[in-house]
Amino acid sequence: MKKIKFGVIGAGGIAQTAHIPSLKRIEEAEITAIADINQEKLLYVKDTFDIKNTFTDWEKMLETDIDAVVVASPNTFHAQHSIRAMESGKDVLCEKPISLTAKDVLDIFQTADKTNKIFMAGLPKRFSGEAKVLKPMIERGEFGEIYYLKASYLRRRGIPGLGTWFTSKKLAGGGPMLDVGVHMLDLILYLAGAPEPEIVMGATYEKFKDSAIDGGWPPIETRKGDISTGKMEVEDLACGFVKLSNGATLVIEASWSGNSEAGLKASLFGTLAGVSMPDPSDPKNPVRIFSENNGVLTDILPEIPTTDVFYEEMLHFIDCVKTRKEPLIKKKEVVSVVKIIENIYKSAETGKPIIL
Ligand SMILES: NC(=O)c1ccc[n+]([C@@H]2O[C@H](COP(=O)([O-])OP(=O)(O)OC[C@H]3O[C@@H](n4cnc5c(N)ncnc54)[C@H](O)[C@@H]3O)[C@@H](O)[C@H]2O)c1
Repeated sequence: MKKIKFGVIGAGGIAQTAHIPSLKRIEEAEITAIADINQEKLLYVKDTFDIKNTFTDWEKMLETDIDAVVVASPNTFHAQHSIRAMESGKDVLCEKPISLTAKDVLDIFQTADKTNKIFMAGLPKRFSGEAKVLKPMIERGEFGEIYYLKASYLRRRGIPGLGTWFTSKKLAGGGPMLDVGVHMLDLILYLAGAPEPEIVMGATYEKFKDSAIDGGWPPIETRKGDISTGKMEVEDLACGFVKLSNGATLVIEASWSGNSEAGLKASLFGTLAGVSMPDPSDPKNPVRIFSENNGVLTDILPEIPTTDVFYEEMLHFIDCVKTRKEPLIKKKEVVSVVKIIENIYKSAETGKPIIL
């Protein structure tokens, strides 16, 4: 069997802890190349993971005979890296937040169509136990009409890569809403049947600029050669209120710093049932479905399987590459997620609701 040859752009935290280890577990794949502008990190990754070819110029890597590319570079480069990779004949798995604008997302998918390449958005919550259990129930109509969606991803003190690209407005594009809010947005919109945003109101805050604390991501051992300016140029909290095309309302919040309970959670309210999805890392607080049975209010505690979301994401991508089937994560869904984040920032900047 011919193995699928992978190249990775960006040799940082997520490549070292998720993509490379996942690929190493998969018989049908091999990583033959890795690109990063940081030579020290490249050499560390080459030695640690036994990767043959390293490139400080990602475009040179695209000239080699790899079949697929994982884009794990800073947010602002995702669209450029994905588009060039597909134009060079490679299938692409691209990290969240995929891009900073809905227009870039459309360009990416248009390139996939034009080049006949697979483009898969790396939104790992799709492979979570919650998504696996709840999506089929919702599709069977067990929740009725879903009309209210709430999600939050809150850190109390924890700015990723403080002073690196993560907190540079130019390189990251934004703070926690782009970084972690994106996961929760994708999860609840997917579960709710992918309604599109119609009106977006957002606000952002920068209250911890002078007392920002590095949150330990990327893991220290993955940061070889990284240089920090110490600057914090993006928000530390963002929230959004969104009216959706099916009449439903969505409320989303994300923080890297804030005086609040930390963790991630989401809820959906439907006319027949609702669900609360607390932090999956809290076993004492399970997923609960709130319904009614012959007039009796009834709680159901569904068994939620534990999944290795990055491994499953990679398996799905490889399956799509082999069979040429469309990935689970669709263009329309990615456009909606990115459009909401883009317009939360736009609304925060202008102080006005954005009507789409
Ligand atoms: N899915 C998830 O849960 C998850 C988790 C963490 C990060 N991410 C995403 O993965 C991406 C990378 O994040 P990370 O945590 O690995 O960051 P990181 O800083 O650890 O790694 C990014 C790497 O990209 C390199 N780089 C910078 N500019 C480059 C360029 N022009 N060409 C090639 N390489 C370049 C940097 O030197 C660095 O090594 C981000 O978009 C982030 O949002 C996703």
